[in-house]
Amino acid sequence: MNSKKRAAEKAVEYIQDGMIVGLGTGSTAYYAIEKIGERARSGLRIKAVASSKRSEELAKQFGVALVPIEEIDSIDITIDGADEVDNNNNLIKGGGGALLREKILASHSKRFVVIIDESKLVGKLGRFPVPVEIVPFASNLTLRHLRALDCEPRIRRDAENVYITDNGNMIADCFFDIIEDPEILSARMNSIPGVVENGLFSHTMVHAVIIGTENDTVKIK
Ligand code: A5P
Repeated sequence: MNSKKRAAEKAVEYIQDGMIVGLGTGSTAYYAIEKIGERARSGLRIKAVASSKRSEELAKQFGVALVPIEEIDSIDITIDGADEVDNNNNLIKGGGGALLREKILASHSKRFVVIIDESKLVGKLGRFPVPVEIVPFASNLTLRHLRALDCEPRIRRDAENVYITDNGNMIADCFFDIIEDPEILSARMNSIPGVVENGLFSHTMVHAVIIGTENDTVKIK
């Protein structure tokens, strides 16, 4: 079993009957959705909300019951991947483009459990570019504001075309070197008109990070 799958399956053990479960997006979250489907077929009764159209499709494919997000008050547990995790459990997310819905789900979750392999661990965030969801209107001007934060923003492209999120927006991938204070940077980014949300997730949202290792074990921090 690979490390991502091992972390995902450990996280799915936290799910109990009757829970509302948030489904993350990405290659690690894939294994969690697959495992939730397996447990659902064995009798687990849960309802799920998805952080992307891709994860919604996976839920249907694996037989995970979905509930419209408008019909819930809160989420018991959300299980999602990350692109980087620092020593304090701050995260960069959004490599898969779903950061806005992922952050909404995480912020309404009683438990937000992050699943990664060891390659995602860093001392300080910043090696991975911070994805920032921006509205298409005046995106050139929004990029100027982002550049003033000492990064090089690049509009994400999907082969020939500009990548468009599930919310009809664009992603600016912002290249920093080292991010000294993710919370301050996140607040600065979100104060720019035209920015919808950014991919920095504070450690205060994170209840556990489950790390799948190469030697058949998981670590939890
Ligand atoms: C999706 O938008 C992302 O936040 C993913 O959760 C993150 O990029 C991790 O993806 P992988 O599990 O595919 O590495």
